[in-house]
Amino acid sequence: MRILILGGDGYLGWPTAMHFATRGHEVTVYDNYLRRRIALETDSEPLVSLLPLPERASRFEAETGKRIRVVLGDCCNLEQLLQTVRETAPEVIVHYAEQPSAPYSMADRGAARLTFENNLGATFNVIWAVLEAAPDCHIVKLGTMGEYGTPNIDIEEGWIDVQHKGRTQKFLYPRQAGSLYHTTKVLDTDLLWFYVRLYGLQVTDLMQGPVYGLSTPEMDLHPELATAFNYDDIFGTVVNRFITQAVAGVPLTVYGKGGQTRGYLNIKDTLQCIELAANSPPGAGQLRVLNQFTERFSVNQLAERVKGVGDKMGLSVEIRPVDNPRKEAEDHYYNPAHSGLLDLGLQPLFLTDDVMSAMLERVLQHREAIDQRKILPRVRWNS
Ligand SMILES: NC(=O)c1ccc[n+]([C@@H]2O[C@H](COP(=O)([O-])OP(=O)(O)OC[C@H]3O[C@@H](n4cnc5c(N)ncnc54)[C@H](O)[C@@H]3O)[C@@H](O)[C@H]2O)c1
Repeated sequence: MRILILGGDGYLGWPTAMHFATRGHEVTVYDNYLRRRIALETDSEPLVSLLPLPERASRFEAETGKRIRVVLGDCCNLEQLLQTVRETAPEVIVHYAEQPSAPYSMADRGAARLTFENNLGATFNVIWAVLEAAPDCHIVKLGTMGEYGTPNIDIEEGWIDVQHKGRTQKFLYPRQAGSLYHTTKVLDTDLLWFYVRLYGLQVTDLMQGPVYGLSTPEMDLHPELATAFNYDDIFGTVVNRFITQAVAGVPLTVYGKGGQTRGYLNIKDTLQCIELAANSPPGAGQLRVLNQFTERFSVNQLAERVKGVGDKMGLSVEIRPVDNPRKEAEDHYYNPAHSGLLDLGLQPLFLTDDVMSAMLERVLQHREAIDQRKILPRVRWNS
């Protein structure tokens, strides 16, 4: 397949590009380094610094003989994006290119505006680039489980049948997000649904949970093929943060009561899910929504799991709750469906003790690089 990966320099985009290229697909990555820029501005650089994207692609080619074409471009620039879509004639576009940090989106008006304009602007342009230059292309879009929030009823996979005064209609499942970033994803979904309904686009919208991990077969080929592994409060996801805190000897930062429950997945499973989605397009005029996670944990459970494994490795891990910087339920009902990707063939890799100890071992190799000033929450929206 000809695959265009928007946001191909990111935590998920770069491993996705290598995954598809290794399997013989024709891969182009497109990125404007927004994440690198925000990381610099907010002192949130990843654990290991990254080569520029063209050099990473050269390293990948040297290791595997496979080529990844690199375009440094902005999805918010429609002409630039259109030109790339025309040149690459993609059968699949994987759209990762958004500002993905909830805390950043809540930092101040400037960060909120950047997040809003970038995320909606990128998605709008992806839609129009596809309509004008590749109308049969399947858009695989990354949404988030955070779109649903934490309602007091079961969360369905994208859609819900509503009965009202004796009549029934299927609607997008109600969404109520807890940050501006998550709200941009809700708006993306609505925008995509509009263009699917009225213009016949084909879209898979993946409601992904927080991802953890720093190893895939391709990343493990060479240290310069590593992805952006963040442990800071801005870009770090909770498992990656707890693992790094355990290594640094910093008490695990459980926010508030720690009963916040989410669905998680390994970065290797993200790659599986994207490939499964790409291999089975939903068809013109279809918006397929899949909930992309493999298992559920509360923050307290994750902290206990990391402590258990860390202690066995002699790390003496402590857990210390901190004031919750976020406005969110700390104790709630959570029962989301997630059978769609399993039905497509997903073989989950669970968060076992072995997986955690391998992550701890890997981060231990970079212990000296951990900057403890990046760990405690620096953005609050609970006051
Ligand atoms: N990592 C997770 O746990 C997680 C969970 C749920 C959903 N997601 C979603 O998956 C996607 C990828 O997440 P990630 O963790 O890899 O984030 P990331 O920030 O590492 O990757 C996104 C990439 O997109 C690029 N980008 C942003 N705006 C762009 C634009 N206008 N033009 C071109 N490139 C642009 C950034 O520079 C970055 O390299 C995001 O949409 C995110 O919201 C991630």
